[in-house]
Amino acid sequence: MKSFNAKPWLLPQPVIIIGTYDENNVPNAMNAAWAGQWNINEIMISMGNHKTTRNLNACGDFTVAFASKETMVASDYVGIVSQKNNPNKIQKSGLTTEKAPNVNAPVFTDYPMTLECRIKEKLNESETGYYIIAEVVNILCDEKYLAEDGKPDVEKMDLITFDPVHMGYIKLGERVGQAFDEGKNLK
Ligand SMILES: Cc1cc2nc3c(=O)[nH]c(=O)nc-3n(C[C@H](O)[C@H](O)[C@H](O)COP(=O)(O)O)c2cc1C
Repeated sequence: MKSFNAKPWLLPQPVIIIGTYDENNVPNAMNAAWAGQWNINEIMISMGNHKTTRNLNACGDFTVAFASKETMVASDYVGIVSQKNNPNKIQKSGLTTEKAPNVNAPVFTDYPMTLECRIKEKLNESETGYYIIAEVVNILCDEKYLAEDGKPDVEKMDLITFDPVHMGYIKLGERVGQAFDEGKNLK
């Protein structure tokens, strides 16, 4: 086994797109990989100091969409360009927005699925950012990505994960088993 010391290489990492409004209701989006489930109805995000952070300081509502192969270029773009110095960021991204039904934040309708979220707690706040703990208020899923049982079909979404080792985006593959079930064979 080769050693690599400490690196931010927890695998696999999500590619989430955080949607916020500023005080003038101008929508913004940013890419984040350091995020995860915190509790049954709560998520966490490691948030740096961005235009998005300013927006979140003014209003704690935001959306989280999951990047897909189809939205990869726009998703990467919103992660490398700041609205601080690019006011036309969202127009240039080509993303389409509408107001979320339950929170004061934009939904980018190009993405298969979106969480409507509200900040519950900010941890370790400093000028470099903070850790967000947020409540998931609602989940929206484009009908074309629903399974026969009416629930979101993750396999249909062509989601991508972030590869922090080689800075890549990798498309999720096919379903290989049933969770809480496959292991029963060894019981
Ligand atoms: C693949 C990728 C992952 C990123 N992950 C994070 C992250 O977890 N947390 C964070 O604060 N910024 C992250 N960023 C950086 C922000 O997306 C980037 O600084 C963005 O331009 C901020 O936009 P804004 O200033 O318009 O809000 C990531 C960028 C990329 C491309």
